[in-house]
Amino acid sequence: MSFCRPALAAILSLTAAAQAQVVSVNLVAAVGTTQVAPGVTVNAWMYGGQMPGQVLRIVEGQSLQVRFRNDLPESTAVHWHGQPVPLGMDGVPGISRPAVAPGQEFIYDLPNLVPGTYWYHAHGAESQLDVGLAGVLIVDPANPANDPTYDVEQTIVLDEWSNPLGGSFAGHLLNGRNNAGQAPIVVQPGQQLRLRVVNVSATTNYVFALDGHPMTVTHADGNRVQPVSVQAIPIGIGERYDVLVDCNNPGVWSLAASSITNRSQTLVRAVLQYSGQSQTAPSANYVPSNLSGGSLLSYAQLAAFHPVTPIVANPDRTVTASLGMTMGPGGMAFTINGQLWPSVTPIQVATNDEVQMTVANTGMGMMQAYHPMHIHGHFFRLMGTTGGTANPPLKDTLLIRPPGQAWSSIPVQMTMNNPGRWLFHCHNMDHMATGMMTSVDYLGDEDLDGIESRVDFEPTRAQPVLTIPTSATNFAPGAVGSISAQWTPGQAFGLFAGLAELPTPVALPPYGELLIDPTTAVPLGVQVASTTGAAQFGYAIPNNANLIGFQLPLQGVGTTGLAGGLRFSTFQAMTIR
Ligand code: C2O
Ligand code: CU
Repeated sequence: MSFCRPALAAILSLTAAAQAQVVSVNLVAAVGTTQVAPGVTVNAWMYGGQMPGQVLRIVEGQSLQVRFRNDLPESTAVHWHGQPVPLGMDGVPGISRPAVAPGQEFIYDLPNLVPGTYWYHAHGAESQLDVGLAGVLIVDPANPANDPTYDVEQTIVLDEWSNPLGGSFAGHLLNGRNNAGQAPIVVQPGQQLRLRVVNVSATTNYVFALDGHPMTVTHADGNRVQPVSVQAIPIGIGERYDVLVDCNNPGVWSLAASSITNRSQTLVRAVLQYSGQSQTAPSANYVPSNLSGGSLLSYAQLAAFHPVTPIVANPDRTVTASLGMTMGPGGMAFTINGQLWPSVTPIQVATNDEVQMTVANTGMGMMQAYHPMHIHGHFFRLMGTTGGTANPPLKDTLLIRPPGQAWSSIPVQMTMNNPGRWLFHCHNMDHMATGMMTSVDYLGDEDLDGIESRVDFEPTRAQPVLTIPTSATNFAPGAVGSISAQWTPGQAFGLFAGLAELPTPVALPPYGELLIDPTTAVPLGVQVASTTGAAQFGYAIPNNANLIGFQLPLQGVGTTGLAGGLRFSTFQAMTIR
């Protein structure tokens, strides 16, 4: 197998034509202060100096590259909630990637993002989600006809502030402000208003309603659903709903949120103002009648709008996630199948499995515990909805009700099409912190070395990071492409192909771990990382139609100013099938 490097110009022209447009953004996490109400300032940790964090927005088909800098006093990672990103970009320290140390940078390469309303947040210490590290990620469909039409849109981020960093304000926030800080959402009569509602709170599951108006649900967790008109919507932690409002009832109205357990108390509200209307805003504690008593959206009403994989009659695996509680050393602890993270038996799956999972709340009914259960890297297909087996709605977060209520047990199916090791956890930070988390681990010898191991998936090793194109066309006979590496700007980085993978990784502190056999390693090139920390290594697949496939283990070595002077990269296997 020859592996030649064509002329740089040829690579550039070909890759420019073949590769998705890359949208690069800078994202900095830092300590700061923010005004939650006029004259009321709190200490927070924020993305882009604001709370909620800066909105990241691209069009489907564009590739999002987030150059992240951690200016916090502790390490952190960014998780792209709901997006089926490659494991190495999923931002879970210890699972998908080491955390980004204070003062360090990391480039998140996020190709193939799916359209819809998503969000991003810290996934380091549990406490990091309670201090402001959350923002909205919007991916617009490439074909605008795949979106409902609307005239005005508004993002609504529901949160709570419990004052973790000291200060005197505590309460619920909407777009980072309490009731006193809400600028009205202004509409013209006859307009269609799209609300993108996101619950980023640490512990509160909300219900929201817009006084004087029904809402038409168009998307659940980013995924388009058949339109459903409702008066009020329960939104668990981590969930998103996009709704359309027909602005045909001029006035000044409250868009109010209560907790799911007490719909007769408004916790926070925004104000919808028709232009030309000058009544005073509804008072902060006014409870709209549809909030307290209007028909609630039920999962039963959801059906996928776009074609999805149907519910299969014979899933490859059937598992149960039983949500319970136990008395732990620190008090009440919440369990999955009786276990507390990290002492868990992972849910094991294989690539391309159809897995059926029943997520059932079996805790004590009197505790009224709601569990917003979130899966990383995959979508649930909900069973038992109006979508039936042909059009099940897709979601990444399931609000599991207390025992005795409808939807306290939800059967779902998932297509296991994103190999790796993925978290499945309750998004209530109190529950998660006590241990309500497990992992879904892919089995199988992905790297064909005869050993089923963690090395079969992108492992949690030190930077630098390699990114290999993921689509099959990049590896057809005759294809030309490039592997990109992310490394310290200005430092050299050499990429090696190992003709053999070591049976066991060899730890060589402080360099990292060696995963390919150095005696057979072939250098593919040396580059100096650019000012943005990127280095590109071109490749060309021989133009031989008889080529049926091969796999090339890759590892890089970068120079650094750190002790020892060199660092090994993550291992990656480039698979050509
Ligand atoms: Cu919103 Cu583990 O994630
Ligand atoms: Cu929970």
